[in-house]
Formats: sequence, C-alpha cells, structure tokens
Amino acid sequence: MVKFTIRWPCDRQSRAKLMKSADHCCRKGITRLYYSLCENEMVRFTCMIFTLGCCCCAFLLWLFIRDPCSKYSITKALCQEYKNGLAAGRMCYNLCYEETIHLSCLAEDEETSTFGWIDTIVKASKPTKKFNDLSEPSSSAVWEGMTLDDFVKKLEDFFFVQLGPGDHSMLIDRVLNFADFNGDAEFSFGEINSMWKLLHKPEFLTILIFSKHPVFPYLNDTCSDMYAYEHIKTPVLYDKSDTSWFSRIFSDSYRWNFPPWLRRVQISVGLLEFISVALEEANTRFYMCNLSPTKFGFTNTFQMKVTSLHGITSEEKLKFALSQKKCLTDSDCVIGQICHSDCDINRQECSKNILSLDIVEVCRILVDYIFFDAPSKIKAMLKIFVSKCSSLHYGHNSYNNSQVDINHNLLIDDLITILWDQIKDQSSKWFKNEPIKMH
Ligand SMILES: *[C@@H]1O[C@H](CO)[C@@H](O)[C@H](O)[C@H]1NC(C)=O
Ligand SMILES: *[C@@H]1O[C@H](CO)[C@@H](O)[C@H](O)[C@H]1NC(C)=O
Repeated sequence: MVKFTIRWPCDRQSRAKLMKSADHCCRKGITRLYYSLCENEMVRFTCMIFTLGCCCCAFLLWLFIRDPCSKYSITKALCQEYKNGLAAGRMCYNLCYEETIHLSCLAEDEETSTFGWIDTIVKASKPTKKFNDLSEPSSSAVWEGMTLDDFVKKLEDFFFVQLGPGDHSMLIDRVLNFADFNGDAEFSFGEINSMWKLLHKPEFLTILIFSKHPVFPYLNDTCSDMYAYEHIKTPVLYDKSDTSWFSRIFSDSYRWNFPPWLRRVQISVGLLEFISVALEEANTRFYMCNLSPTKFGFTNTFQMKVTSLHGITSEEKLKFALSQKKCLTDSDCVIGQICHSDCDINRQECSKNILSLDIVEVCRILVDYIFFDAPSKIKAMLKIFVSKCSSLHYGHNSYNNSQVDINHNLLIDDLITILWDQIKDQSSKWFKNEPIKMH
C-alpha cells in the first residue's frame, strides 16, 4: 500500500496535468491513501489531537476560574466601593473606568495579594478579609458626615497609640494632604474611609511616615486600601545565610555579585542615613528589630533603599510589645533577634528599657560589605570606628544612657563623613540628575 501511494501521481504538478482526465482517479487515490493511513495511524493521531484539545480547554478553564492573587475579586469589590462613594484614591479611576492598570500576580498569602505593575509593587487585602474588617472598631471608627475636626481628633488618638505622646501635627498634615485624593481641599467620606483603612496597614504607615526620605521606597498611588510603591530592582544587599552546598564550598560566593567598591560605599552611606533617620523621624525613635543585609537593597542608580518594612517599629510600640512578654532571664526579652530589654525578675515581665542599638548590626554589615576590599588607609580608619561601634551598648556601669545616645549619634555622623569623603569626587558625576543629600 505505502509503496503504491508514493508512486501515485497525485502531487500538485501531476494533478494539474491530469485535472480533467484523471480527476476521478485522483479522488479515488486520495481516498485510498486516507484509508491506508487510517488503518494504522489516523486513529492514534485523532485521539492525540482530541486529548490535547481537552487538556487545553481544561487549562484555560482552570486559568479562568483560578483567579491568581484574587485579582478579579479584589478589583471588583474595590471598584464597587469606589462607584458607591465608599472608597477613593488616585488609582481608582484608572483601575475602575479606564482599566489602564494591568496588575500581574507576584505573591499572595491568606490576607494580602501582591501585584506588579510597571515599576511598582501593588498590595491589596483580599475581599474575604475585608468583610471581617468591617466588624473591627478600627474600620468603623469613621462615619459618614464626620467633620474634619472629628477626623483630626481620630488621627491624633491614632498616632498617640502608634508613636506615643508628642507633637504629631506635621504627620497629620501629611495624612490630610495625602487623603485629599482629588485635590479639591474637601474630604468626602470615600477619602476619609480609604485613608483610615490605609493607616491601619503597618507597611503603608511606615512608607507614609518616612515618605520624605530617599532611603525609603517612594509611595505611588492608592485606591481604597490598595497601595502602590516603588519596586526595588535589587532587593537584598547580600545573603550569608544561604546554606546550599555551593555556598559551603565557596564561602565568599555572597560577594560575587557585589557592585564596585565605591558604589558599595555609596550604598553604605544610605544605610547609615537610614539609621539616623530612624532615630529622629516623627518626634520618636524607630527600631528595625530584624535588621539584616537582606532587608535592604538598591536602585539602578545605587540609591540604598529599605526593602523590608515589616520589622520597623516605633519606640512606643516596641516598649508595649516587650512589656507583654513574660520572662525568667534577660534572654527571654528579645524581639526579632535584635531588639531587647532586661527582665524584671520579681514581676517576671520584661522591662520597657530598650537596650538595643541598630548601629551595632549595621557595623557588622559594613564589615562584610566594604571592609574586605577597602584601600588599606581607609581600612585602618574604618577599623577604629567599627570597634567603637561594637563596644557601644547600654549598660549600668560606665556609661549612662544619654551618653551612649550621644556617642551613638557621633559615631553615625563620623562614619557618614568618612564614607562620604570617598565618594564625594564621584558625586558630581553620579548624582547629575539626583538631589545631592549631604549630611
Ligand atoms: C511612581 O512614582 C514615581 C515617583 O513619583 C514615578 O517616577 C513612577 O513613574 C510612578 N510609577 C507609576 C507606575 O505610576
Ligand atoms: C549621665 O552623664 C552625664 C555626664 O557625665 C551627667 O551629667 C548625667 O547626670 C548622667 N545621668 C544620669 C542619669 O546618671
């Protein structure tokens, strides 16, 4: 049979020639060819196509139903709120009417979905969680028809709890400025409602509090409690905790992707700026209890950026968290590896004396990050400061706490000055289009 079909003059040329005379014959040949294939392969082939088709359909259906990151349900719920005047934000119109915002799912957990969109990270609560929130007092604390004075009072109370006593009027102004999403100098219920929800997101609150500082990711737009902020392309400085066989053999492999030394110095200045910003922002002090090189990254222009905002907490909140801990020894009074206080043995409760200094950990990072290949002159100088750094701690013997604080601030300023000296010649070239931030 097969031999026969090869010889059959039924290719295009022959067919044209025989079009009239052999038409009948040709058709017969094709029929024969078809059946010859059918006998052994056609059935299998058809089966395969059919199965593939079914798989494709099932996959498409699954994609459709699955809704990664609950994107559709989040957007639908959010836009429903927006259209009903319960939500506002600069992103809302584009998200709900223009549909020019195309979110792609990056990650999700039970409560929150994380999306990517152009150069931003967008986070939103899942709708199921939102419905639970409605019963919480924090969300129902704003009501329709509340006056601006009512809202300001709410904000004062809120920041008192978050940041402790002190003057928070600048922060409140910033919140009001931000909350006037349409810039009409009036507050709709949607604007107040959305702002209030956003403030209860710890990550958003941290970005807002530090929004003046270039070492934090900049805040893009929001819609209801959805918020977008800068996506940092290199999210970690380095990671020494990698325990794969590869990094065991090459113990310095964490250095392989390091940028050039001067760029690392520039990044380190940013790291020190973060510490000094955290000491004085919003009339309070902030701690990063999980401080490590994996919590910082840098942009394409080597601007250091804090990439993990979860561990940053105000002194007031940290004191509260520590005082809630039961203890038998001082080692029980630790939060996130770095923040610690001492144990009040009599009451078996941790005290509110915070004894940790973030700079100590930062000095450790500097040693790993810029020490090993630094020019010898600078290395010698840095060595002095790093040893000062590690001897710095709150104690009851030689120093009193205010002295430690003074030395702490001096040390940060000195380190910034030394490092800045290394890069200041480059700065005119590097920062051509960026504002130069000198300490
Ligand atoms: C986010 O904000 C930054 C700074 O304001 C801007 O350069 C960037 O284009 C914004 N990104 C988006 C997606 O809106
Ligand atoms: C801390 O030291 C300074 C300077 O030596 C001193 O004036 C101050 O009284 C001390 N404070 C406490 C609480 O001991």
